[in-house]
Amino acid sequence: MSAERGQALFAEKGCVVCHAVNDIGGHHTPLDAETMEMPMNAFEFAAKMWRGAEPMIFLQREDLGYVIDLTGQELADIIAFVHDAEEQQKFSRDDIPPEVLRLMDRDDEHDHDHHHGDGAPHGH
Ligand code: HEC
Repeated sequence: MSAERGQALFAEKGCVVCHAVNDIGGHHTPLDAETMEMPMNAFEFAAKMWRGAEPMIFLQREDLGYVIDLTGQELADIIAFVHDAEEQQKFSRDDIPPEVLRLMDRDDEHDHDHHHGDGAPHGH
């Protein structure tokens, strides 16, 4: 598991279009390390994604135009990143590839009615 690689994947794969770290990113449940259960619980994280899968996949089709494909290794790296406060502090807009930034900015423009309210964490 590599938090550093996870940071790149978080940006490249487009998680950042919908989820924020370090206040950078979309309006759905933030994935800051402070809000994650410690010690790192990768299984719980994957289970939460599974639970959020239906709206997540629906919105990925709508907002990204594709559904994110991840290998187990990639997911492991992302899970390391979302639990690593130090690595997250380094995260900035400069880490986000231009094509993903474009998706983020497009998402901001037509602020949808289908995002769930206030961005507060949902469920547990
Ligand atoms: C197109 C938008 C979108 C993208 C892209 C996206 N998600 Fe989500 N995600 C959601 C929505 C919507 C939910 C369910 C409702 C919520 O939690 O806001 C969700 C839920 C989750 C949850 C559960 C949160 C909780 O505490 O219940 C996790 C974890 C998560 N996503 C991780 C990721 C990761 C990692 C990626 C990138 C590989 C990603 N998401 C990409 C929209 C997205």
